[in-house]
Amino acid sequence: MTKYDRIVDGIRYPLAIKDEILEAVKTFEVREDDVWLITYRKSGTTWAQEILIFLSCGCDLAKRDKIDITERISFLDLLKPGMTEFAHVTAAKKPSPRIMETHMQSRHMPREIITKKPKIVYVARNPKDIAVSFYYFHKSNKLIKTFETWDEYFQAFYDGDLVGGSWFDMNLYWWNRRNDDNVLFLKYEDMKEDLGSVIVKISEFIGWPVPEGKLEEVVQHCSFGNMKNNPKINYTESKMIDISISPFMRKGLVGDWKNYFTVSQNEAFDKLYEEKMKGSGLTFRFE
Ligand code: A3P
Repeated sequence: MTKYDRIVDGIRYPLAIKDEILEAVKTFEVREDDVWLITYRKSGTTWAQEILIFLSCGCDLAKRDKIDITERISFLDLLKPGMTEFAHVTAAKKPSPRIMETHMQSRHMPREIITKKPKIVYVARNPKDIAVSFYYFHKSNKLIKTFETWDEYFQAFYDGDLVGGSWFDMNLYWWNRRNDDNVLFLKYEDMKEDLGSVIVKISEFIGWPVPEGKLEEVVQHCSFGNMKNNPKINYTESKMIDISISPFMRKGLVGDWKNYFTVSQNEAFDKLYEEKMKGSGLTFRFE
């Protein structure tokens, strides 16, 4: 246990994710018509979330502008500063179709996610860019600890000893379920390469159509530049994140890890990836 976190069933959790939440979430009632966005932190959750919100309101900008993200999205894991009720309590009262979100590893997520088979959108991102993005998130997020040096942080990421647990465990779990009818496994790097195609995939998977001729507008709305400049999305109003230390919408790139990983860290990480992912077939574009 540290000032910021503790380990529960082998996974490090910020103190803000209280035991009460972890217990209640396991038996949370999932609905068949829920849409679940599941990610390891820093994989592009906020990006996919914006796509889902926009699709859910028929890609209508005026309707989108009236939506408060924290009301539309039920992020189960955390009692965020300013929230007066646990998210699982609020979510249980919301009308369908709900958009649910979690970063929890399989052992802690609601058991009914497997039995009720809601629509699950899983977004994966290459772990080297996640490492860098998460490093800055540790600096700017007031609820988790700041590492003094990149090297110290890198070791913790390598060991799977950061909040949320191992990147490998979570991604393998969902990769192994990628062919389930109710699972859409996406990659951040594919979203960077061809956002329009990924938006169409999500739209068809969920059944929230992009109106005829509007795809370009949706792509534009969900572009990094647009999201970075939108105060409703970019966390500038968040009490949890000090954007003067590092903006939430930081760089949005593939390959930024090259500015941080030393040659030996990169070699060690490649070896670890090879060991952990051997035979899985899960590969990423790293640049
Ligand atoms: P970087 O720190 O590498 O810039 P999450 O929402 O899961 O916490 O992920 C945050 C990461 O997704 C950040 O990565 C952020 O910049 C990136 N991101 C958010 N919106 C994006 C967009 N529209 N296009 C590309 N990257 C985006």
